[in-house]
Amino acid sequence: MSYDFGLFPNMATKAHHLVVALAFTVLSGVLGFPLNQEKKDGVSCGYQSCHATKPNLLNVHLVPHTHDDVGWLKTVDQYFYGDRNDIQHAGVQYILDSVVDQLLKNPDRRFIYVETAFFYRWWKRQSSSMQQTVTQLVNEGRLEFVNGGWCMSDEAATHYSAVIDQMTMGLRFLNETFGLCGRPRVAWHIDPFGHAREHASIFAQMGYDGFFFGRLDYQDRARRMMEKEQELLWRASDSLTPPMADLFTGILPNGYNPPEGFCWDQLCDDPPIRDDPDLEDYNVDDVVQRFLLIANSQARVYKTNHIIMTMGSDFQYENANLWYKNLDKLIHYVNARQANGSNVNVLYSTPSCYLQELHRANLTWPMKTDDFFPYADDAHDFWTGYFTSRPALKRYERISNSNLQTCNQLEVLGGQASRKGPFGEGDSQTLRKAMAVAQHHDAVSGTAKQHVTNDYARRLANGWQHCQVLVSNSLASLSGSSAERVYCDYLNISVCSLTESSKKFTVSVYNPLARPVSWPVRLPVNGTAYNITDAKGRSVDCKVVPVSSATRGVRRTRGFAINELVFQVQAPPLGYSTYSVSLLKNGPPPASRQHGAPIVIQNKFLRATFDPDTGLLSSLSNLETKQAINLTQNFYWYNASNGHNSKSNQPSGAYIFRPNSSTPFIISKTARTESIQTSVVQEVRQWFAPWVSQVVRLYADSRALELEWTVGPLPIDDSLGKEVITRLDTSIKTSEFFYTDSNGREVLQRKKDFRPTWNLKQSEPIAGNYYPINSRAYIKDDLDQLTVVTDRSQGGGSIQNGSLEIMLHRRLLYDDVRGVGEPLNESSCIYPNGLVVRGRLLLSLDRPATAADTHRPLAQEVVLQPLLSFTDGQLDTNTRLEFSGLQAALPPAVHLLTLSQWDQELVLLRLEHQFQSWESKLNSQPVTVNLQKLFSTLDVLGVSELNLSANQWKDEMRRFEWTPQKEEKPLLKTFENPSVWEVTLRPMEIRTFLLRVSVR
Ligand SMILES: *[C@@H]1O[C@H](CO)[C@@H](O)[C@H](O)[C@H]1NC(C)=O
Ligand SMILES: [Zn+2]
Repeated sequence: MSYDFGLFPNMATKAHHLVVALAFTVLSGVLGFPLNQEKKDGVSCGYQSCHATKPNLLNVHLVPHTHDDVGWLKTVDQYFYGDRNDIQHAGVQYILDSVVDQLLKNPDRRFIYVETAFFYRWWKRQSSSMQQTVTQLVNEGRLEFVNGGWCMSDEAATHYSAVIDQMTMGLRFLNETFGLCGRPRVAWHIDPFGHAREHASIFAQMGYDGFFFGRLDYQDRARRMMEKEQELLWRASDSLTPPMADLFTGILPNGYNPPEGFCWDQLCDDPPIRDDPDLEDYNVDDVVQRFLLIANSQARVYKTNHIIMTMGSDFQYENANLWYKNLDKLIHYVNARQANGSNVNVLYSTPSCYLQELHRANLTWPMKTDDFFPYADDAHDFWTGYFTSRPALKRYERISNSNLQTCNQLEVLGGQASRKGPFGEGDSQTLRKAMAVAQHHDAVSGTAKQHVTNDYARRLANGWQHCQVLVSNSLASLSGSSAERVYCDYLNISVCSLTESSKKFTVSVYNPLARPVSWPVRLPVNGTAYNITDAKGRSVDCKVVPVSSATRGVRRTRGFAINELVFQVQAPPLGYSTYSVSLLKNGPPPASRQHGAPIVIQNKFLRATFDPDTGLLSSLSNLETKQAINLTQNFYWYNASNGHNSKSNQPSGAYIFRPNSSTPFIISKTARTESIQTSVVQEVRQWFAPWVSQVVRLYADSRALELEWTVGPLPIDDSLGKEVITRLDTSIKTSEFFYTDSNGREVLQRKKDFRPTWNLKQSEPIAGNYYPINSRAYIKDDLDQLTVVTDRSQGGGSIQNGSLEIMLHRRLLYDDVRGVGEPLNESSCIYPNGLVVRGRLLLSLDRPATAADTHRPLAQEVVLQPLLSFTDGQLDTNTRLEFSGLQAALPPAVHLLTLSQWDQELVLLRLEHQFQSWESKLNSQPVTVNLQKLFSTLDVLGVSELNLSANQWKDEMRRFEWTPQKEEKPLLKTFENPSVWEVTLRPMEIRTFLLRVSVR
């Protein structure tokens, strides 16, 4: 395998745009309309290529499209080739072949394509003449890309960092392949099961003019139809200055399907148009009549004299002739009626052409500031189960993101030598692609079939293999030592063969954050006493504690360590620090264990007490702020509905959460406990049942109480599906409110049995109050805020005042009839009796006014965790034991979101202000960063700013302007950067740059 720069080797960026003294003109907001850039070089795409409409008629925009899942019932590769058609008839390669062929037959025809993961596979295999033909179709706007990310991401279980990455990858391919005509104008999430506000914010910052989707709560839909509010302006940030995060949003009339009776795909059974009057069953009049009826009734629930119809569905257009032949006829016969006074004009169109007409209508639009969660398609059908479904995959995806960011950074910091070095050839793109695929709305969501889920995980593992080589090469180059490096991926279950057997080894801690971190490390060992020195040769306090029986139960035969070596490490910003460990003494485990219930564990920041009778947590105090709350935590399970129920026969499944009863079963009223108290860590180990245990842990330097839960295999011998929650019941006086993050970024307020935009009729008291938690949730009153930071996406709610529950694991015995066709009942070779899942919650207790100063950095340390690598024996004396890629740590408000190699010369950098405008007195202030003084080993020679998805220069970014109802038109405050090199970030702002760098 040979090394390619970036993804698309033959299409290297010219980057003529990059000059040192490029003037920064930030969105002036003067021009309301996109420039007519599409007209250049005789091409006419985008808004220029739309068919004419008729101002006095009802214009029906027919949008031929296919919805191609990047894995669901089949793997992404099976879908591409059309393999395993016994599972589902679907072959994307044939769809693209057939559509191109049919587009050439009639220049009026249009088609949109969405998923770049598939288009890229197809394009690679085309002849250059076919590529030219397709380019022509794109240049003429006959084939238009919409959305254009690698996949159509899930919105409930994804983290914004991975979503931005996958969008960037897809849009980059389109730009480099087709230039301006390849840039999608419209975001298109027709299938995701609920819509996140942060996604809308991201899309706005990526330069999209509008957004369309298909699924929303059925009550919300009904009200919006009555009020003609299915098209609206979504203000998707409470911190960014409007209209930066404003996104025009359209709700499609029929999901993403054609109107009833008008599906002409080979997968459908609707009657074709039989238009020969000499033959039997001539049906033109009937078809036209039915169509006019549908069009007119649809028009009654939308505002303008334009309506949209999605003519296609899942994996349709494999034989595109069927669709197009009938659509040609439909257009012909419906429009022929205009001569007899019909008011309907029907045309081939695209979402952007439809959007352009809405914009031209120059109306005012209702404004929305909340989100579209949770999604219910009927009274007992809340799609809130997938917030938690497949918790192991959700965690693996999150770790993989952390590893990818580390891999990207080390590719830049290590330069050429990282891609090809002593350990062979490594690359970041394999993991980048695997991560992009994993963002799909049936991937990280946990709603794919088991074999497809396995394929997602396999891709991530394979990507990490490629990155490991790169990381080893880079660290070898930076440290000057080519000693072999070992990575221990099972440290969470105390498995690492090197540390278990070695008498002398080193551990290097790479920190992907742009500020120094202090992090507890636990290594599986068999000795009882160790000596540890840091990079400066200073001795480090370390303690040996016995491996718990819960951990032995999870790891089974994969490791044999009897102890864990625990110590605190420090790592510099974007850099590593190396610790040397040597065995002092073998022998039996140290006797630090105390059986029975301890009263208290505490460090200098926090104190947690336990009830001696029950063994459960009973209070939490912050010793700095002198706050204390009562806090009880326990595990419960909801009995999953099996579908036999008087109210509805909806079972709980991969998508849907439907408990049989609103009262969960307690797993155990008491916990058996054991405590360990050392100078490095204090912990209480709790046993609730053979399948539920927990460690409540406080490290000496931590501002958070760690709850490490281990759940599974969930017993099903009673034939009851189980949905396990952890519940925190506190003395905090909440009044039905709690708070959750949106894709790991801005926080939204939630209220029990309430939706901000309509009068909710609550029909599922638990499931209807569940929301996605991507990185944190909190409850608060005037004095106290308890924040829970999660290590993966999960669902949760606040059902009682003062209480917060988070769903950890689900094991279900019935399919929930949304298409996946399997019950969510996970097992594996190692866990044939059901999956065991382990994870962590971090709890912090603060004053509400300053809580974000704690939970923002805390959540960030869980998302971007240090990467540990090990070498056996001693390192050469001239090895560089410590390195930082930055000249200095970035200010606390600034997060370095992206640092990755773009091509030979250019590096992609994203800097982010990570506080909301109202969140922190200290940190919610604008911050300025100097790009030239950023890196310690790289000189920054040139800089240019881009939109968030890096497919458009910032100074060329123009979006449609929309006017909200009942509000002044927003005015974008312009501001100047202090200089070309100094970049100011305001709350929640992300700024994207291409840097030309050279190694110092
Ligand atoms: C888009 O691709 C073209 C080549 O097709 C390249 O010249 C241009 O720099 C790219 N634009 C951006 C913003 O990367
Ligand atoms: Zn889908």
